Amino acid sequence: MQRNEIRFLLNGVLQHAATVSPSDTLLDYLRLEKRLTGTKEGCAEGDCGACTVLVGQLGASGLQYQAVNACIRLMPSLDGCHVVTVEHLARGGQLHPVQQAMVEHHGSQCGFCTPGIVMALYALWMENPSPTETQIEVALQGNLCRCTGYQPIINAALAVASYGSPAADILVAEREKVISALAALQDHQRVVVSGEGGTAILPADVDDLADVLLAHPKATIVAGATDVGLWVTKFLRPISPAVFLGHIDGLKAITQTDTALTLGAGVSYTQAQPALVAAYPHLGPFWDRIAGWQVRNMGTVGGNIANGSPIGDTPPVLIALGAVLILRKGRDEREVPLEDFFIDYGKQDRTEGEFVLGVRIPVTAGGLHAAYKISKRRDEDISSVCAAFNVTVTEGRITAARIAFGGMAATPKRAASAEAALVGAPFTGESFAAAALALPQDFTPLSDWRATADYRMLVAQNLFRRFYLENSETAQPVRLQGAGA
Ligand code: FAD
Ligand code: FES
Ligand code: FES
Repeated sequence: MQRNEIRFLLNGVLQHAATVSPSDTLLDYLRLEKRLTGTKEGCAEGDCGACTVLVGQLGASGLQYQAVNACIRLMPSLDGCHVVTVEHLARGGQLHPVQQAMVEHHGSQCGFCTPGIVMALYALWMENPSPTETQIEVALQGNLCRCTGYQPIINAALAVASYGSPAADILVAEREKVISALAALQDHQRVVVSGEGGTAILPADVDDLADVLLAHPKATIVAGATDVGLWVTKFLRPISPAVFLGHIDGLKAITQTDTALTLGAGVSYTQAQPALVAAYPHLGPFWDRIAGWQVRNMGTVGGNIANGSPIGDTPPVLIALGAVLILRKGRDEREVPLEDFFIDYGKQDRTEGEFVLGVRIPVTAGGLHAAYKISKRRDEDISSVCAAFNVTVTEGRITAARIAFGGMAATPKRAASAEAALVGAPFTGESFAAAALALPQDFTPLSDWRATADYRMLVAQNLFRRFYLENSETAQPVRLQGAGA
């Protein structure tokens, strides 16, 4: 059984689209086909947030709306979803409370960023009508404003609750109607659609995905499209045939046992965050620094691993925790320690037709943990260096160390010599200084536009010192000998 059109709701109205390319973006569809020009195009790469819309999807926890970037959201991934644009907000000549707050707090000047900011604040208000300033900043990480300045926007966000309650909102009022309409669209069939840019396949479930990839081993796998979307918009790269994963419930499970947390390959950063942070609280602030809110709502941990980037933020963290990758091809599954998955730049231990099924993260009590992201901007930036520490100390001595870095080599990688210098040594500043001095045996970083090789090495060495200082009750600053620190 196969369906040859995608079906979704747009501002509450059912849409059928039969001629769809895998590379068609939601932004082009809204602006060029539907003339819904409230959604703006700024960067076309997920950075500025001018294109922010809400996408609602039925899942294990019911209907959930999330702010996403329409510029890199690919059309086939909308099958079975509810797309909500800024045009859906004002009703009967009355501005929405978020819009009214923006007007009255002078949150807009040229107005180009404003619809995107309104949509991000709308998503926040629905989730949390009385947010703190910090929560507002997190929600706006993915929205750039060049001219207003952020304080009036934050003031507006703090005041939204006084202009109206989410209980009176259209998405709340029509929630049951939308749930019924979306449920009626779920026929669990394989969907195949084509357009000028080729063919998109949406497998019915995980088994069907395995079959599709055996039949199309060179197909582009698309999860959240926060990497693939840029191949389309920035490199104009053909991606057909493309196999989409975002709708497959079987890839979205988060399973917790006493000893491990397993994330399905389709779990987004946002969905993974509560369980991961509950198991490993040190990941809370780190997770909020991955991309911006919209990208975290779309991008998956599986995609961050599978793309094999040396500067992805989750691989070093997961390697330090001893994560194991679960891969599937046809009916066969296999497991690989995550650190062994990354073979060389652009080369991973994954064969054609094989896909990432999930990642299993051991959950152990005790141990000292840290995850550090060094980047030029605090928010919405790629790491120059990313480091994760997992150190066990027993009676004052280091008995185990897993330390992994991103941005220091062609792949995310453990610092084997530095780890060896630590294991067996006392938990002292001198031991961490010695480990830092062993780091050049592990890495010969590159210089690029994000950082020079010298900067990368120095900052990585200093993170050993920081880790010790943060975890020692009696720490005194320690100067690294000969490291230029
Ligand atoms: P996709 O883009 O869909 O796919 C990525 C790659 O993985 C593709 O090669 C795809 O074929 C493959 N793939 C996906 N799923 C599977 C699977 N199950 N099996 C096999 N192959 C698969 N990354 C960071 O690490 N830190 C950041 O701070 C950060 N900031 C960003 C900011 C912006 C504005 C943007 C646009 C991206 C940013 N990224 C960042 C990159 C991106 O968010 C991540 O790499 C993301 O996790 C990729 O996941 P995805 O689901 O979007 O993957
Ligand atoms: Fe900039 Fe989409 S246009 S994030
Ligand atoms: Fe001009 Fe924000 S109001 S970019």
